[in-house]
Amino acid sequence: MSNYAKEIEEAKEAFGDLLEQQLERVELLKQEEDFTDFNNKDEIVIGIVGGDGIGPYITKEAEDILRFLLDEDVKKGRIKFKEIDGLTIENRAEHNKAIPDDVLEELKECDVILKGPTTTPREGDGWPNIESANVAMRKALDLFANVRPVSIPEEGIDWTFYRENTEGGYAVGSNGLHITDDLAIDFTVATEQGSERIIRAAFDYAQKTGKNKVTVVTKANVIKTTDGKFLEKAKEIAKEYPDVEMDDWYIDIMTAKLIDPKRRKEFKVLVLPNLYGDILTDEAAEMQGGVGTAGSINMGKKYAMFEAIHGSAPRMVEEGRAQYADPSSIIRAAGMLLDHIGYNKEAEKLQKALAICSNFEKKVELTGRDTGATGTEFSEYLKETLKDPDLDQKYKSYITE
Ligand code: IPM
Ligand code: MG
Repeated sequence: MSNYAKEIEEAKEAFGDLLEQQLERVELLKQEEDFTDFNNKDEIVIGIVGGDGIGPYITKEAEDILRFLLDEDVKKGRIKFKEIDGLTIENRAEHNKAIPDDVLEELKECDVILKGPTTTPREGDGWPNIESANVAMRKALDLFANVRPVSIPEEGIDWTFYRENTEGGYAVGSNGLHITDDLAIDFTVATEQGSERIIRAAFDYAQKTGKNKVTVVTKANVIKTTDGKFLEKAKEIAKEYPDVEMDDWYIDIMTAKLIDPKRRKEFKVLVLPNLYGDILTDEAAEMQGGVGTAGSINMGKKYAMFEAIHGSAPRMVEEGRAQYADPSSIIRAAGMLLDHIGYNKEAEKLQKALAICSNFEKKVELTGRDTGATGTEFSEYLKETLKDPDLDQKYKSYITE
């Protein structure tokens, strides 16, 4: 008998509970329905979640742009907006919950959600140790695919990351075990269903867009069981897509190849377990111009959530300059939302107008302070650009210069 018989018994019990929860989740995955078909929906509810810090300021601008582009269908009642206020760190701390129950109920009344940044408590910052609202929402609404596009046209880079969003190290991320003072254990999870649906989503996308290449990234040479399963599943699914080429890389060399100017253009669609996706997408976004420039879709079969992947910048609020925060990243996320619910023309228009306002014409400059424009001034400029009947021409003239 070891000296730690009691600790081991307790750990076994806790581990048993985790297994129960994960197996329950698998049962739900088995019953999952197909993706919502928005074209056949009479009513679409868009939830607007301000979040923390600058969140409510920039989200307001994004909502304004959405209302502008969807005006007709808002009037017809096909599009409804639902503002959800309770996802703030104060309210979450008060309920000691990553997502308070009433807020979760409100979220579930929406089809798609546009979300501002939310504060993730970390040790020593004075907030209770609650789970990140993002991670909790991904789990609660089963938003299993984190899709992050990164493009650098002048270098021929056009990557789309399909990051698995509910499993891996995140599945029980807040429920690891301190066995003794000396030994701490975390768990990483892969399921048949969870791996299959993200890999299939990546292959479907690669086929549909004609990109025809999927790169699978794991560390299956070391994390043999879970990453091994992910990679095996990918090889199996690849056989169903003869037009789509598949290659596989380990995450370490992948992080290196992403900054290799000779090789990196070759990657198109990348599919990867949660934590590797978290890391690699930050690296990729930084190349595009900073982590704040990338948009991110958290997509499930029923719900989808769209967010900017920058933080809530509490300092800007403290210093009274939140109105100068740059809303373009969350507006880009709003564009992805439009695409997702079937308003593809509006999404394309927005993408062009954003490129004109932020990259080319730049009549309004944001500096984050009163030396530059406010977020509202930027979105007014964007709306003027969207109204321009020659928007297409203007965009073309810039990209062919
Ligand atoms: C992201 C973020 C989150 C993650 C944090 C805020 C928990 O880094 O969306 O990539 O790790 O997934
Ligand atoms: Mg991240």
